[in-house]
Amino acid sequence: MTILVTGGAGYIGSHTCIELINGGFDIVVVDNLCNSFKESILRVEKITGATIPFYELDIQNNKGLKKIFESHDIKAVLHFAGLKSVSESVSNPDKYHSNNVVGSENLFQVMSKFKCKNIIFSSSATVYGIPKYVPIDERSPLDAINPYGETKLMVENILCNLYANDKTWNIAMLRYFNPVGAHDSGLIGEDPNGTPNNLMPLIMRTASGKDPKIKIYGDDYETEDGSGVRDYIHVVDLAKAHVKALRFILEEESRILVVNLGTGHGVSVLKLINIFQSVSGKLVPFEIAERREGDVAISYANPTLANKILDWRAEKSLEKMCEDAWRWQCMNPNGYQEN
Ligand code: NAD
Ligand code: WQD
Repeated sequence: MTILVTGGAGYIGSHTCIELINGGFDIVVVDNLCNSFKESILRVEKITGATIPFYELDIQNNKGLKKIFESHDIKAVLHFAGLKSVSESVSNPDKYHSNNVVGSENLFQVMSKFKCKNIIFSSSATVYGIPKYVPIDERSPLDAINPYGETKLMVENILCNLYANDKTWNIAMLRYFNPVGAHDSGLIGEDPNGTPNNLMPLIMRTASGKDPKIKIYGDDYETEDGSGVRDYIHVVDLAKAHVKALRFILEEESRILVVNLGTGHGVSVLKLINIFQSVSGKLVPFEIAERREGDVAISYANPTLANKILDWRAEKSLEKMCEDAWRWQCMNPNGYQEN
């Protein structure tokens, strides 16, 4: 059975390609490489021994997508392709709307034409805005507090409308919390374009001496040690959830599903840095800085639904997340680019 993976060369997509192949699926990848390298796909091929048909294409390209659907009998789509920088979305909201919303609409239109109506969409905990309570369950109120979050909410709404008008769709919208870590081969991992904004890639840069120190955005939140609390989830656990969600929707006649993917545990910035230091033996110098605009104090998931419906739970520890991220960093100091 063939599955199309959009954004399959990216961080979460590449890890999910491995789990799909290990799960017995054939995959086809489309990615315009705007935030990734073809090398990640070659590494996935190396890890799995599979040959992966790869198309360097923008999902906004209607003709190109149709050609792919004509060449492969695609049963379902895992839709990771999207831009994900909150700060860039604030400075260039139109780019985020075209890429994430218009691109997704184009994909859904081509899927409809080819009667492929099984889709898993990469949504985000960002759709909860400032959480009204923790742990956050799927019934929590939704609110976009930046243009990136708006694009995720808009695509979720488009999918809800598709389903309302045509019950032959099977849809899973997965809301990820904070993915970190890497495949334990050390061959694939997170390789953000330019200077990263996310905590774990910044810890990597500091531990490897690229940055002198890391800024901790606020030590006066109402948390155990004053620093922000998040639900960090190992990217391989996250990837495995996609295979479970895929099997689930393929077994259904008609379904729309929205599921949180997190561990259910909140961890502070200071605690994560401490665990990383003890696992890696590396010092991560830091300084306390002002709170970052738009940050929330505490965000972590209630993952009960994923547990119940998908029979999935996150298994990997924070130590393992740090150990795997550090192995990837040490084996690939310049990411996928030549060292
Ligand atoms: P990533 O940037 O590593 O992967 C996204 C991939 O999509 C990249 O390879 C990029 O080149 C590709 N892409 C982007 N726009 C495209 C387009 N128009 N056409 C074709 N390819 C395109 O990001 P990731 O961390 O792997 O995230 C995957 C998905 O999960 C994204 O939709 C993101 O918004 C969502 N998400 C990520 C996080 C996170 O913290 N990493 C959290 C929640 C949700
Ligand atoms: C984590 C914690 C920061 C950097 C973002 C997006 C969200 C999702 C995941 C896609 C916070 C603190 C960070 C630093 C720090 N992406 N921090 N110093 O903000 O939870 O979520 O990525 O959907 O939409 O908003 O993740 O990794 O940026 O921050 O102290 O240099 O680390 O304040 O408490 P965040 P993050």
